Amino acid sequence: MHLSKITRNTLSARLAMLFIAAGTQVTHLPAQTANPAPTLQIKADQTTGKVSPTLYGLMTEEINFSYEGGLYGELIRNRTFKASTNQVRFWKTVGDAEMSLDTGTPLNDALNVSLKLDAAKAAKNSPAGIANGGYWGIPVKPRTTYQVSFYAKAANGFNGSLTVAIVTADGKTNFASAKVSGVTGDWKQFKTTLKTKSVSPSKDNQLTITTTSPGIIWFQQVSLFPPTYNDRANGNRSDLTQLLADMHPAFLRFPGGNYLEGDYFNERFDWKKTVGDLAARPGHRSPWNYWSTDGFGLPEFLGWCEDLKMEPVLAVFAGYALRHDYVKPGPELEPYVQEALAEIEYVTGDAATTKWGAQRAKDGHPTPLKLRYVEVGNEDWFDRSGSYDGRFAQFYDAIKAKYPDLQVIATTKVNSRTPDLLDEHYYRSQEEMELHALDYDKYSRTNHTKIFCGEWATRVGAPTPNMAGALGDAAWMTGMERNSDLVLISCYAPLFVNVSDLRAGGSMQWRTDLIGYDALSSYGSPAYYAQKMFITHHGDEILATDSQNIPTATWQPPARRRNGVDQPAPAAQQIRKVFFDATRDSKSGTIFLKLVNSLGTAQPVNIEIAGASDISNQGTITVLKGESLDDTNSIQAPEKIVPVTEKVSGLGANFTRTLPPYSISILELKTK
Ligand code: AHR
Repeated sequence: MHLSKITRNTLSARLAMLFIAAGTQVTHLPAQTANPAPTLQIKADQTTGKVSPTLYGLMTEEINFSYEGGLYGELIRNRTFKASTNQVRFWKTVGDAEMSLDTGTPLNDALNVSLKLDAAKAAKNSPAGIANGGYWGIPVKPRTTYQVSFYAKAANGFNGSLTVAIVTADGKTNFASAKVSGVTGDWKQFKTTLKTKSVSPSKDNQLTITTTSPGIIWFQQVSLFPPTYNDRANGNRSDLTQLLADMHPAFLRFPGGNYLEGDYFNERFDWKKTVGDLAARPGHRSPWNYWSTDGFGLPEFLGWCEDLKMEPVLAVFAGYALRHDYVKPGPELEPYVQEALAEIEYVTGDAATTKWGAQRAKDGHPTPLKLRYVEVGNEDWFDRSGSYDGRFAQFYDAIKAKYPDLQVIATTKVNSRTPDLLDEHYYRSQEEMELHALDYDKYSRTNHTKIFCGEWATRVGAPTPNMAGALGDAAWMTGMERNSDLVLISCYAPLFVNVSDLRAGGSMQWRTDLIGYDALSSYGSPAYYAQKMFITHHGDEILATDSQNIPTATWQPPARRRNGVDQPAPAAQQIRKVFFDATRDSKSGTIFLKLVNSLGTAQPVNIEIAGASDISNQGTITVLKGESLDDTNSIQAPEKIVPVTEKVSGLGANFTRTLPPYSISILELKTK
């Protein structure tokens, strides 16, 4: 019996957790004495290729409350009441009231259920209504204007008004309120604003909608938005977007991941149901087991790209869902191929002359986006039917016929066509990342197919990576960067985790995620800062390098269990503990030398730079370091580990530097 992909993911996450928690399976033995000090040679007169301008990008999906409860500005949880078909989840009543789901009074075919509030006992001194506590709280900030909107209708006889308010969870403090009147027997949308005064920031709050007039009222799409990044309507949370903007990512891979595929066909990312009016989007269940309203749909992915000047890397549904449902290549697959072509047209089509380009413009994005990469499916190595080769060929041919300039990415090896890129995914321990950090040096350079490292992460630390995670990531990034003539695009995954409730079934479905947040605050992990350092400090030319006397440590790989049986421990291995790569900016001559010391001791290194004229004695160094492998950032200590930049001297063609324990350093050397 094959394990389903979800079981495998959960299992590997659990195994990783066990190994780390038990602390028995991963053995760090002392580094062997490094004598003499390692020598790192940079051959500035030999370039091995160009650094791909799209090497570093972003990827996440609807997992860990990444969008709803994360990046998406919406503050109301279950705004469309579709999170459950038999109870009104995440809502409660206020005062003497009753509420229920009502499928007999739908807003429309997409939002085909509503919340029915029975406020028969409402009176002047006893308001009755509904309340929503958001995604583990509603952030209240001082002097902030919130946009409220909702659809409502009332049964005959109601002639009162509604009061919308942001109040504390105990209802005792009211931060802002507004009256809405005119609710009639027909569905209508109501909008108002709520403005806070000089209050202290807090998150243990709720939105209430109450009335003091008796009656029955139905609600749909109850929404509360704080100010968003770039003031975009239906836009993104500012602090999280700023953390991403600071990384200067070149592209965004979307919509997933598993989220693209869904557990079943009817739970895939069905892009046409995620465009247009928000009230026309039915929403769907995410494979990570919670409801998505699809308020963060295809147009919102494009807005996110526009805000951060990222190129989209568009993954199209390829006829395979996670629970192994698939469509055979041939006529049955054709509707999905056409769906993908229409999606490409939505992203790139001219607003005046194409159907889907016009829809994109209507959705607020008049300018077509530049698209170079389209990925067919996700992790299709899980499809044991063998259908991917044929499915890929059908998509590849149709995409190339209509869009010959697009680069088509395969998610696993195929024989039928030669993909432009192959998407590889690596989720590993620190030691595994170090062990494999030189893998790309050995890849053939004669293949047409280049590499998209579309999901990678050192899965150490939860909910966000610790210093060990950052060191494993940095070792891996030196390998990708040194080989970025081949690894054209890469992105860490997942990007986000809501850290509010880390219990099973809570806000985290996948441990080790780059950026953590609750309703009010956010922080970047050490791995976030390592990535930011790499992305913002590199040249366009890859310089040849060599090394001697790299220190190693003995690593005992963990013993595994297979089919419930303990397997013998694999042989111990020697793994490198110092990693580096060098790139140069061809315009300024600046050399960026990245240095990773995974040892817990300071490590002197001799640096020799051949073939560069006039290396300045002065330069800068940016260092990220931790006190221990477990050292990390959190909501409470968001900037415990951050990079520090300082001026250095004593640089030249030959010099020695001592790398701090557990550190990632970038030296910027000026040459003429
Ligand atoms: O990033 C989390 C998941 O890992 C992705 O959804 C999937 O593609 C991979 O298995």
